[in-house]
Amino acid sequence: MTESLEGPGKQDSAEFLPLHKPPIGMKVWGVCDGGEASMGVWTTLFRKLRGKRSYDQPLLAEHIPAHIAIIMDGNGRWARRRGLPRSAGHHAGMLAMREVIRAADDWGVKVLTLYSFSTENWIRPRQEIDYLWHLVDEFFQLDIEELAERNVHIKIIGDAGKLPAATRATIEKARIRTMDNTGLVVQFALNYGSRSEIVKAVQTVAGEVEKHELRACDITEDAIAAALETAGLPDPDLLIRTAGDQRISNFLLWQIAYTEFVFVDETWPNFSRTHFEESIRMYLTRERRFGGLK
Ligand code: FPP
Repeated sequence: MTESLEGPGKQDSAEFLPLHKPPIGMKVWGVCDGGEASMGVWTTLFRKLRGKRSYDQPLLAEHIPAHIAIIMDGNGRWARRRGLPRSAGHHAGMLAMREVIRAADDWGVKVLTLYSFSTENWIRPRQEIDYLWHLVDEFFQLDIEELAERNVHIKIIGDAGKLPAATRATIEKARIRTMDNTGLVVQFALNYGSRSEIVKAVQTVAGEVEKHELRACDITEDAIAAALETAGLPDPDLLIRTAGDQRISNFLLWQIAYTEFVFVDETWPNFSRTHFEESIRMYLTRERRFGGLK
């Protein structure tokens, strides 16, 4: 009995388990505590046979996903646990975001998309919303030189028209300052909602049909993708969400059809360069089949 439990029986479930646990303090969905002690040998063998990368393999630039999207969640919980106002959580979130942009650039990520304010976030208290815009102003004013020097290209997705005039001016300045840069593209999703983005894309394509530039039967996935705000960029390879919730919250619904998800328990202000790298390691343990067979 023991033999079958330690052997092939476990091997069957190896497909669903990462090879090793992330380092202490890093909790990632899908990791079974204590699993590696009994699973390691079988999982290693199984992964070798299937040609997958192991969790503890050194991270190399060639392994880095081209597009990483992040739902930066948990600023409020981080603050509440410390008896601080929510604004302190957002400020700490801004600092974490700065470090992750640096890490993404250092690792040679091509596109980083950061969910910074959703179309649904307007229902929050006025004071909190005002603080978030203040933070956006502060971030772009303080970081624009470093971002420009890093050859970062800043892009905004979402309806920036509804943002305060001062914030619009700041982000427009940052956009223009970095528009010719050829390095990491950082897309800030501000007043962004994926359904609204898809509706606008469909309206654009329908407009072309109305003007007889396109026949309805010629509407393709490429035509819709080209009308989205993310046109011209690859779909995300990896989507990270912090703070434990496992939902998408109206983020990049079209673009994540074949994205790998990593859900991290850590709140966003606690998310460090190490967590970023561990999330990429977790991504590397996945076998991407895009609906096919391997
Ligand atoms: C979600 O946490 C976070 C936000 C709605 C805002 C994200 C903003 C930042 C990371 C700050 C910097 C952004 C820019 C672009 C400068 P939450 O408030 O919903 O947390 P909770 O679920 O714990 O309440």
